Amino acid sequence: MIIKSQKDNSRNIVVDALVLGIYEDVKSVREDLQILDEKIGNAIQSLIRDEEFKGKNSELTVIHTLGKIPAKKIILVGLGKTKDFNDDTVRKVAATAIRAANKSKCKTVAFDLLNGITNLEIKKSSQCICEGSLLGLYSFNKYKTNNENKQAYVNEIYILTNEDNNKIEEGILVGEALAKGTILARDLVNEPANHLTPTEMANIANKVAKDNGFEIEILEREDLDRLGMGCFVAVTQGTEQPPKLVVLKYNGGKKDDEVLALVGKGLTFDSGGISIKPSAGMEEMKGDMAGAAAVLGAMHTIGKLKPKINVIAVLGLCENMPSGRAIKPGDVVTSMAGKTVEIINTDAEGRLVLADCMGYAKKLGATKIVDLATLTGACLVALGTTTTALITNNEEWMGQLVKAANEANEMVWQLPSYPEYGELIKSSIADLKNTGGRYAGTITAGLFIGEFAGETPWVHMDIAGTAWSAKEAGYSAKGGTGVAVRTLYYLARNLEN
Ligand code: BES
Ligand code: MN
Ligand code: ZN
Repeated sequence: MIIKSQKDNSRNIVVDALVLGIYEDVKSVREDLQILDEKIGNAIQSLIRDEEFKGKNSELTVIHTLGKIPAKKIILVGLGKTKDFNDDTVRKVAATAIRAANKSKCKTVAFDLLNGITNLEIKKSSQCICEGSLLGLYSFNKYKTNNENKQAYVNEIYILTNEDNNKIEEGILVGEALAKGTILARDLVNEPANHLTPTEMANIANKVAKDNGFEIEILEREDLDRLGMGCFVAVTQGTEQPPKLVVLKYNGGKKDDEVLALVGKGLTFDSGGISIKPSAGMEEMKGDMAGAAAVLGAMHTIGKLKPKINVIAVLGLCENMPSGRAIKPGDVVTSMAGKTVEIINTDAEGRLVLADCMGYAKKLGATKIVDLATLTGACLVALGTTTTALITNNEEWMGQLVKAANEANEMVWQLPSYPEYGELIKSSIADLKNTGGRYAGTITAGLFIGEFAGETPWVHMDIAGTAWSAKEAGYSAKGGTGVAVRTLYYLARNLEN
């Protein structure tokens, strides 16, 4: 894919599709488009006047230009109301328009979205056009054997400008890095569990490390045993697939700078184990590694954009399966940190894996921690599929995470962590138990992990509702969404000093 800026005051670019944005509340054609509109018989002005095109957010109309201008088609895309317009609108409309262009087999697409768009910074808008386009064109079809639609038709994208502006190229670089990180996370989530085993995911992590010059460490089952990671080992006991604990290290900062640890739940399949899940919908549990996938996606982006900070990624990769060797309800195990855990339900496995991964992150010198996990079905009940749930032990660190999520336009919501909730995960025979009952399931699961953060500032992100989408919407695809990649990148970048 080629993406670049192009100076073109008169919209004479030779492309298959020229994308023009029209606001809902602006009733006349923008001044700098009037000459263009005259050339096509004032088609745009007529569409607006007759209210055939209202400019509602993501509304689409295609105009065939019949040789009157060099662009074969004009795609009008609605920008919605001026007052509601923001960075995320740019992503959405870019995705909507480029999907339409791709559907009609356009190869070259020019976006005229920077001119006439109010209140936005050129660099950020260019970045968002780039993100929206690449994410909008995404589809996971590697297992379809017919060649039709395998690859996007669109292979060249131009961002038009009235004046030369290197801010556009800067924005494109950031947008590409963020989109590719997000796409890596989507691909991993969509990949079936027979293909994406913990071993295969560790191989992919190794490739990300090699491509970006990260240090990498891969711990095997024997290492987990040796380190006393009884919680992690318990989860992997029932499966034939060897577990992997993968650590990537990016040293972008100075030696004594903060070390940001990104810890991801990487269950390449979660059957529930002995507390087995119902079969309906169980196939979605191939995506139970979305936390680790988001971390790996963010590491890709960080590797490309190189913020001046230190980051370690800790991925807990394994399967949760029933078998004669599997962990059983009632068993008690000991975590690396020394805390004992009574296993009430073997389907509450993510928090067990993360408990030891958090311990390892701390051992490696983490000074700030974020963990990401498709942790609880209760999260879907509480917040649905649009919003990621957050829990913390440190309000200031939470503030930084929320700021990063806002910059990324990803929706997050903090849940309370009053000590009363912590009481629910105390065991009568061990230090902790791995479920706190039906009520407040997302909070008690988060607080279980928090027990292993100790005093280190920590935020937990439960992405059970947001990592997977049942349908295509905006720039999000069906299946894996790649949620949190962008937030993690902004969080890392904002730690630069
Ligand atoms: N991976 C699941 C959570 C999940 C559910 C993610 C639906 C995405 C969609 C997790 O391991 C799990 O099974 N959690 C249990 C915990 C319970 C046993 C305390 C749950 O939420 O039911
Ligand atoms: Mn589970
Ligand atoms: Zn799980």
